Amino acid sequence: MPKNLVVIGAQWGDEGKGKIVDLLTERVGAVARFQGGHNAGHTLVIDGAKTVLSLIPSGILHPGVQCVIGNGVVVSLEALFREADMLVQRGIQVYDRLKVSPNCPVILPSHIALDRARERAQGVNAIGTTGRGIGPAYEDKVARRAVRLADLMQRERLAARLGEILDFHNFVLSRYFSAETVDFQRTLDQLVAQAERIEPLLADVSVLLRNEMKRGTNLMFEGAQGALLDVDVGTYPFVTSSNTIAGEAAVGTGLGPRDINAVLGIVKAYTTRVGAGPFPTELFDETGEHLSRVGHEFGAVTGRPRRCGWFDAVAMRRAVMHNSLSSLGVTKLDVMDGLDTLRICTGYRIDGEIRDEPPLLPHRFSECVPVYEEHKGWTEPTHGITDFSKLPTNARSYLARMEELAGVPIDIVSTGPDRAQTIVLRHPYD
Ligand code: IMP
Repeated sequence: MPKNLVVIGAQWGDEGKGKIVDLLTERVGAVARFQGGHNAGHTLVIDGAKTVLSLIPSGILHPGVQCVIGNGVVVSLEALFREADMLVQRGIQVYDRLKVSPNCPVILPSHIALDRARERAQGVNAIGTTGRGIGPAYEDKVARRAVRLADLMQRERLAARLGEILDFHNFVLSRYFSAETVDFQRTLDQLVAQAERIEPLLADVSVLLRNEMKRGTNLMFEGAQGALLDVDVGTYPFVTSSNTIAGEAAVGTGLGPRDINAVLGIVKAYTTRVGAGPFPTELFDETGEHLSRVGHEFGAVTGRPRRCGWFDAVAMRRAVMHNSLSSLGVTKLDVMDGLDTLRICTGYRIDGEIRDEPPLLPHRFSECVPVYEEHKGWTEPTHGITDFSKLPTNARSYLARMEELAGVPIDIVSTGPDRAQTIVLRHPYD
């Protein structure tokens, strides 16, 4: 029986989904992105060679695999072609394997200007967005004024829609933010030039994926960002503007919930977050420094330092619920090598009570004080280990405890950035 698997980040993003998606692609016919845009940064390392992808599915490095950008993704054509050309230069066939939904909203230069102007105006209350125009592009989608890829195919319709939307954006930019406006003609010319290039890539992705299923191949849905950045169930307002949880895999490709068979949640053995917002287990000490330095915790897209902290099982349990996770992939275990004592947050203290769930009111998340249990660390390196039985005993106990607290099994453990540096306990496609 073919199987369709969703791979999502179960924390605040940057869990290492790209590596796991790339690894699992050997078993699938197609990989689809279903939300977000080029705010994602998926790093793949194969035989030491590094590739960072933001928009094109991480399955692209496997020849012959169909890659799909679903309707739930907001598309910067500039970013798309830049990334595709970079891959082509490296000898990877892209243009005959990539299909994009005509329903995708287009990220316009004015979305980027609005994103940045708003962040600037917010000052200390800024969300710390990636500045890629993601939020404003999703706002326009919901407001039913987006320029979608399909609109690029009709020149007159495009000019009319772009005219309307830019009038509105330029009004907000100049009058509300006192920021520079965006030129209509220049934007139109750019879009017209890009339209020619995107046309052959447009396809009905729902039909394409359904046909793949009919052929009996497995599908993979590649999430971006993480469950706690979800616009509905995440740490609002410090979230991204899309649904990052597994249910969106169906919505963002135009399939139904029964087309999903399993969900793999990727978590780091610790926690990181980039941008502002609550992070109960954040560390400001030498251990945080260690995780940041050894884990190279700098954003793949923006280069910003990521905030680092202990593994948070309370937040994890919420992610298990929101995504109906079937199993876990634990990444960056090796980054914890050499730490004497490890901690796992098993509860939050709030209003004098200890709870094992985050507060119902998300705005109180930042008031939570973590309650920890301690675990002995390990001195032997785990870096590059591919056999579970070769892991130090304490590393195995730490993983067993993560599994117990999450209530779902660990399928995969990653012990380094390279595709090969992985322990597969149970293949999610078996
Ligand atoms: P936006 O998605 O650019 O609007 O940013 C909103 C929030 O999501 C900010 O805190 C970003 O740092 C965060 N974010 C967006 N994309 C990623 C990602 O791929 N990894 C981690 N954080 C992300």
